[in-house]
Amino acid sequence: MSDRVELTLEPLGRSIALAPGTPLRSVLHEYGVEFPCGGRGRCRGCRVRQIGGSMPIGPEDADLLTPAELEAGWRLACRASVDRDLTLDVGQWRTVILADHSEFDFEPREGLGVVVDLGTTTLVAQLLDLRSARVLAVRTAVNPQTVHGSDVMSRIQLSVQGGEHRALVEELRRGVGRMLTKLMATARLEEPRLETVVLTGNTVMHHLFCGIDLEPLAGAPFETPALGERRFRARELGWQLPGDPVVIFLPCLGGFVGSDILCGILATKMHESATLFLLCDLGTNGEIVLGNRERMICVSTAAGPAFEGGRISMGMRATTGAIHEVTAGEGGLHCRVLGDVEPRGLCGSGLVDAVAAGLELGWIEPSGRLELGRSLPLAPPVELSQGDIRQLQLAKAAIATGLQVLRARFALAEDASLPTYLAGAFGNYVSRTSARRIGLLTGPEEAIHPAGNTALLGAKIALFSSEADAGFAELRRRIEHLPLAADPEFEDAYVGALAFPVNVA
Ligand code: FES
Repeated sequence: MSDRVELTLEPLGRSIALAPGTPLRSVLHEYGVEFPCGGRGRCRGCRVRQIGGSMPIGPEDADLLTPAELEAGWRLACRASVDRDLTLDVGQWRTVILADHSEFDFEPREGLGVVVDLGTTTLVAQLLDLRSARVLAVRTAVNPQTVHGSDVMSRIQLSVQGGEHRALVEELRRGVGRMLTKLMATARLEEPRLETVVLTGNTVMHHLFCGIDLEPLAGAPFETPALGERRFRARELGWQLPGDPVVIFLPCLGGFVGSDILCGILATKMHESATLFLLCDLGTNGEIVLGNRERMICVSTAAGPAFEGGRISMGMRATTGAIHEVTAGEGGLHCRVLGDVEPRGLCGSGLVDAVAAGLELGWIEPSGRLELGRSLPLAPPVELSQGDIRQLQLAKAAIATGLQVLRARFALAEDASLPTYLAGAFGNYVSRTSARRIGLLTGPEEAIHPAGNTALLGAKIALFSSEADAGFAELRRRIEHLPLAADPEFEDAYVGALAFPVNVA
């Protein structure tokens, strides 16, 4: 047996020499393949397609994949290793990542700065000229920790129960450092001098990057005392960057409300606004803030992974092959698929659309019961199951309840209309009509606005802000964090929010 085998990834045209028996999982996460259940063989989210060589069918493949998928070469990457030369199609994993090119006010300075949106699944970095705020280079990468699972709970578990905290900290710092080195190389500057790197992210990413114990976030009441900003020199983190810049991780607002929401407030200027409005980041963990310059209250609500295609029978992220749009029309449902390929699964926006269309056609009852039986065919082989509808009900009820509790705190009438800004990728792509139809959002459609990557824009504002030197202490004092688990109205409101509206005007 040869001591090297070759793994080829198409359409990247990338060949990698590996020792025989190398687990695919250890190689593919860098190329965007995700491992939503952390490689336990339970979710089918890591499936890849072999187009050259052969991979045996294991028991988990046979359990989780259909005979047609097995026949077409699909296998679970988390259960496979590279034993002989192999070619895989990883084109399906190209994800659209939201960067930011908005204009904003700034005080020019000398040198260069970097901002990083450190997401649970993806990392985005931009290099800026501090004299002009011009973006000189952008780089994206997969969070190296997706290999352990796609949500923050898998990282908390591994850190606290698995005793892997230090290893996770090092892994994350190394991953970000690698991306920044590539970012600097992309810009090809003659004598670069990096002054500051500003990072933003949720509370778990903050704690992991800064090396803070995650134990307080592992159980109720999910409060942590270490929310503040942290500063390092690049060299301390093991990064060789020109100028040895100061690295700042912006402060969090609460147990599960990170600096990404602080950045959202900066980006939307909520803290200066006379008008009351909502800012929502709809993800596995929904983070919502309602306020204006007088008062701001933020909450986080555990929506689960449905908006990202998680725990959905044929769910996937919004990558090539995902049904991302479903409309009800003549002759039933019409589906649009990302990329010029056969449908492979259903992403969050497609799921919301599919259920909204099912409600419109009367195929799904307001209780969530699927009238047609066990599943609703979308575009072969993709179907919507009764379980998928239940998962969406749980997710939308969590968000709708968070919104309801916040409105109650401001004593707003039930029909009071509020401008609503949606941050993040799902918020930018979800249909406003469908979001209203399923009761995820309320109010007139024209009051709901996609707000782009507010985390990245806010990080850029922070990069130039003198308030950053004081860790945004003044602004943070003005933002109240409301732990929903302790709110007496939450439980009742949540149960009431599970049903879909009968109809929407
Ligand atoms: S089945 Fe492979 S990561 Fe879940």
